[in-house]
Amino acid sequence: MRVMFSPEVLASRIAELGPEIRSAFGPGPITAVCVLKGSVLFAADLVRAIPGDVRLEFLGVSSYEGTESTGHVRITHDLRSSIQGQNCLIIEDIVDTGLTLHYMLAQLRAREPSLLRVATLLDKPSRRTVDVSADFIGFEIPDAFVVGYGLDLDERFRNLPYVAIYEPAVDG
Ligand code: IMP
Repeated sequence: MRVMFSPEVLASRIAELGPEIRSAFGPGPITAVCVLKGSVLFAADLVRAIPGDVRLEFLGVSSYEGTESTGHVRITHDLRSSIQGQNCLIIEDIVDTGLTLHYMLAQLRAREPSLLRVATLLDKPSRRTVDVSADFIGFEIPDAFVVGYGLDLDERFRNLPYVAIYEPAVDG
């Protein structure tokens, strides 16, 4: 396991993102849509860094098995309330091929929020196969499989307090 972003580095970047998101949205309520499961740790920290009225919803999507995207995205847990007319912020852990985000944006746009923006902790732009991008990005990273701070490999490593590069030969 090679540490890429320590807990301190994650915290200080999130402390910058929170106020940046608030100024982009203006003073009204924000509905934060935490994408399960990978974004849970990031979302928990990010919503605390955004001042003012922030509500929290959860959206479950799944597309990955092992280290490869299956390409088939599906909703495993839907929002519990309408987002029509609301200012929404999707909170993602990582944008890789972009397939998941592309699908989610289409799904949520159809529900007619007033504003729909995306925050992602990590962005791997070199892997993109569809044209989508996040509005707020924690860190841009090269093409490596990362785990920790919510990110998993077959459900392992989500509880690591840092983001690390997964090394199969060392990490098993
Ligand atoms: P995309 O649809 O290819 O953009 O992939 C998005 C989802 O794949 C993310 O929300 C993650 O759950 C997962 N994913 C992509 N890259 C990684 C990685 O390096 N480590 C762990 N999960 C990843």
